Amino acid sequence: MIQIAIDGPSGAGKSTVAKALAARLGIVYVDTGALYRTIGYAAVSRGIATKDAMALEALLPELQIDVRYENGIQCVYLNGENLGDRIRRPEISMAASDVSAIPAVRAFLLDTQREIARKNNVVMDGRDIGTVILPDADVKIFMFASAEARARRRTLELEQKGMPADYEDVLREMKERDAQDSGRAIAPAVPAEDAVMLDNSELDIEGSVAAVIAIMKQKLGEDALAWE
Ligand code: DC
Repeated sequence: MIQIAIDGPSGAGKSTVAKALAARLGIVYVDTGALYRTIGYAAVSRGIATKDAMALEALLPELQIDVRYENGIQCVYLNGENLGDRIRRPEISMAASDVSAIPAVRAFLLDTQREIARKNNVVMDGRDIGTVILPDADVKIFMFASAEARARRRTLELEQKGMPADYEDVLREMKERDAQDSGRAIAPAVPAEDAVMLDNSELDIEGSVAAVIAIMKQKLGEDALAWE
């Protein structure tokens, strides 16, 4: 089994790059942010304050979260319902960040993530994959870019998904969310000691994928990707 961990702040292109890489290598892409988004969505839709740790803890036993792969795409089901793009809405981003700082929420999602990696070759992206979820991952990358480059990409992405947003709003919210994710007490979004840092401010998707493959070859040897 191979485990490739890609962590970093929001909008660094982790999911786009990880998805392309997984398709190229024929392995499973795991978007762990979708799990926190699902819990954020569940809280918001029930009118629960997303920073209320006690209320969130009481909510967890009511949630059945399943990750399924349909036509190669990761789908997250909440109590039997595929939430689709509803978890991508901007207000759910902050809700996900809020609930992800609650230890019981992180504990609740731990096994789901490790179980997928136990059964499959994976490229997993998130904030604490290299530090907490898969500490023995074969390759760990911390992918980042300037806040401005990330906000530009995220604004474009939202527009393409039919959810147009103002660049300045995206930039402000992104900075706020990153500060919360990297400053929290539990599993903060920081690079693992053995992670390779990849600044892709000046790279496009293909360039970022190529950079990740170069890092993999350096870590695992040229032959490691023979099954590519
Ligand atoms: O990757 P994303 O933007 O979809 O993640 C949404 C939020 O979930 C993010 O702000 C922090 C949290 N998250 C986390 O704490 N740990 C992860 N492994 C992935 C996401």
